[in-house]
Amino acid sequence: MSDKTNQGGTFTGQLGFVLAAAGSAVGVGNLWRFPYLAAKDGGGLFILIYLILVVTFGFTLLTSDISIGRKTGVSSVNAYAKMKKGWGFLGILTFFVPVLIMTYYAVIGGWISRYIVTYLIGETQAAAGDKYFTGFITGEISPVVYALIFMLITAFIVYKGVEGGIEKASRFIMPLLLLMIIFIAIFALFLHHRDADGVSRTGLQGLAVYLTPNLEGLTLGRFLQILLDAMSQLFFSLSVSMGIMITYGSYVKKDVNLSKSIAQIEIFDTLVAFLAGMMIIPAIFVFSGTEGMGAGPSLMFISLPKVFAAMGVVGPVFGLIFFVMAAFAALTSCVSVLETVVANCMEIFHSERRKTTLIATVIYCIASVIIVLGYSVFYMEIKLPNGSTGQLLDIMDYISNSFLMPFIALLSTILIGWVVGPKYVTDEVESSGHRMSRKGLYVVMVKFVTPVMMLVLFLQSTGLLNF
Ligand code: PHE
Repeated sequence: MSDKTNQGGTFTGQLGFVLAAAGSAVGVGNLWRFPYLAAKDGGGLFILIYLILVVTFGFTLLTSDISIGRKTGVSSVNAYAKMKKGWGFLGILTFFVPVLIMTYYAVIGGWISRYIVTYLIGETQAAAGDKYFTGFITGEISPVVYALIFMLITAFIVYKGVEGGIEKASRFIMPLLLLMIIFIAIFALFLHHRDADGVSRTGLQGLAVYLTPNLEGLTLGRFLQILLDAMSQLFFSLSVSMGIMITYGSYVKKDVNLSKSIAQIEIFDTLVAFLAGMMIIPAIFVFSGTEGMGAGPSLMFISLPKVFAAMGVVGPVFGLIFFVMAAFAALTSCVSVLETVVANCMEIFHSERRKTTLIATVIYCIASVIIVLGYSVFYMEIKLPNGSTGQLLDIMDYISNSFLMPFIALLSTILIGWVVGPKYVTDEVESSGHRMSRKGLYVVMVKFVTPVMMLVLFLQSTGLLNF
């Protein structure tokens, strides 16, 4: 514990912690992946399932990670070993997730930053063209420059430390982000547009598309698929089972009410995801009907720019606000990933924060360049076990998110539920003198429900199980 304090490694209090953790949780996953999944998986049905999963699975995994962090006072490489002899391997495995994610997160941050410039220099119409995005990411210079700039801003915040860097940035960014998203979500409801065939659509109709549960063609297999989509989104969105929340938990003071903090993080993250859907789905619906809700990057970088271009004079303004917001969201997430890598390395090498950050930054600048060039110089089509094909970025994403995360969650819930016992966590939550809410639920979830679901998720994402 003492070496952490020496490095200035604590949040000032509950608010600082909640905003920093929410900063990690709220990321591009909330802005592009949640709306896309909601559109694909039956609108309100997906939202309902997601909400139930947040307060059960999300709560369980978040509570576990944060409590392990605070109780052990160290990052994942040491935390699991400290919890139980012989479980150090799980800490090392967990460490690999941020190590891998960090290779590509700044690259995505760079893409987003490019679009800030797009709207600043008035390329609104050009950005609506089909080739604009692919033209940019397949370049050899520009995406490298943007990724490196994003990487350096991230590194600067981590270099400044927990209180003076991470907490300070989150206290500024998170409230602003919330304000911006509320503003655009409300604006989206008032949109209306008549297309070339004379069909007119309104934002409120779009909201109905978003919120109405679509039960058409719902089979058991399809339901399970939606459930697993929601589950893997939840993981990614709450930044759990990758050591990040263990590291952040290790910076929380002993008198902070964990139960309440965790509830606030859940609410913050889910609210932003919900509002992102409320802004994106009606906007796309109004301007292009139910098409254009395509997967991942194309939704954010292709469909939305078309909407901004169709909006007329206010388009560039909204484009700018949207991408500034996305860059903020990506930045605080990227910071949490780099911080976790640095914190683990400080423990492994007994090194000091600044030096560790500098070395990690050099390594990740090189890694980011390689990942960027995966779309040009090193282009290849790699087949993934779950059937899809991808480039270098997708491989890193697949190994960390689809493969390692459910596996780590499975092992860590077994460790808590069956080896050290749930009391290890619940006692830590209550150690500040505050009662833990949903305690009974936690015990049942961590022992029985979560391990089973994680096993199913793991088998599905490795392609061993198909619906
Ligand atoms: N939680 C972030 C999101 O929702 C994603 C993320 C993943 C952040 C991994 C950090 C690490 O986008």
